[in-house]
Amino acid sequence: MKVLVTDPIDDAGLDRLREAGYEVETNYEAAGDDLLEAVADANALIVRSGTDVNEAVFEAAEDLVIVGRAGIGVDNIDIEAATDHGVIVANAPEGNVRAAAEHTVAMAFAGARWIPQAHTRLKDGEWAKSDYLGYEVNNKTLGIIGLGRVGQEVAKRLDGLGMDLVVFDPYISEERAAQFGAELIDDLDDCLEASDFVTIHTPLLPETENMIGEEELALLEDGFLINCARGGIVDEAALADAVENGPMAGAALDVFAEEPLSADSPLLDVDEIVVTPHLGASTEAAQENVAVDTADQVVAALNDQP
Ligand code: MLT
Repeated sequence: MKVLVTDPIDDAGLDRLREAGYEVETNYEAAGDDLLEAVADANALIVRSGTDVNEAVFEAAEDLVIVGRAGIGVDNIDIEAATDHGVIVANAPEGNVRAAAEHTVAMAFAGARWIPQAHTRLKDGEWAKSDYLGYEVNNKTLGIIGLGRVGQEVAKRLDGLGMDLVVFDPYISEERAAQFGAELIDDLDDCLEASDFVTIHTPLLPETENMIGEEELALLEDGFLINCARGGIVDEAALADAVENGPMAGAALDVFAEEPLSADSPLLDVDEIVVTPHLGASTEAAQENVAVDTADQVVAALNDQP
């Protein structure tokens, strides 16, 4: 049995597969025809967010049983095509949740205290102490868009730092929100208007694509937007404009509609927008967790286990 791995995963996951007796082929450059060729005799495919697992991949991979996603988001996998070809898609929904939540908190502080901007100027030899007056999170309202696994971990952490929490999430009850010390608001605009900081924790789905555009951003008077979930949920040109010329104080983004982010992106021209290259899950612990969880799912699927 061959397991093809097309995005880097932690060695702990690769070892697990080898110990189970599988041939493990890593091919991190595979794309286009090369990917189709590599997957042709694979029984399992393991990816992160870098491989586009589209219809052509399922067409080419006649022996494929499972696509394992070493991470949460499955927006790079054509689930309908997988279903049509009888292929299981399994993500690793737990292992990087804490890493993503911690990165979100770090981004809130990076944005609100101008840490990257001040760091860059000090490294350049400039003592710009008087240029940076920050915002405290204490006593501010945090709007959480999506109270799933990551949203819940963010709620726990920022509640502990003295923030008031409000939540917009059509899939949870008032009682569930209250368990995290949050008030459920059933209208997105009202949630944005009530918030000083807004953090997004939804998947990218047809109903969340471009969910935050010019009109929604206009509601964030003096506000900060943090997105460590998925690109494509926020209109990036509108965000750049809302921070540079409009009402917003700043933003911190780890994810983008197109990744890698183009050097021409308007986001890069706005000093009050902090960016990181999709690092939310990039901790040693998280990468080991998701690699092992994914390997276990592959082993189970190849052994006809649930
Ligand atoms: C995820 O969906 O798990 C994260 O975006 C991390 C990643 O795999 O890059």
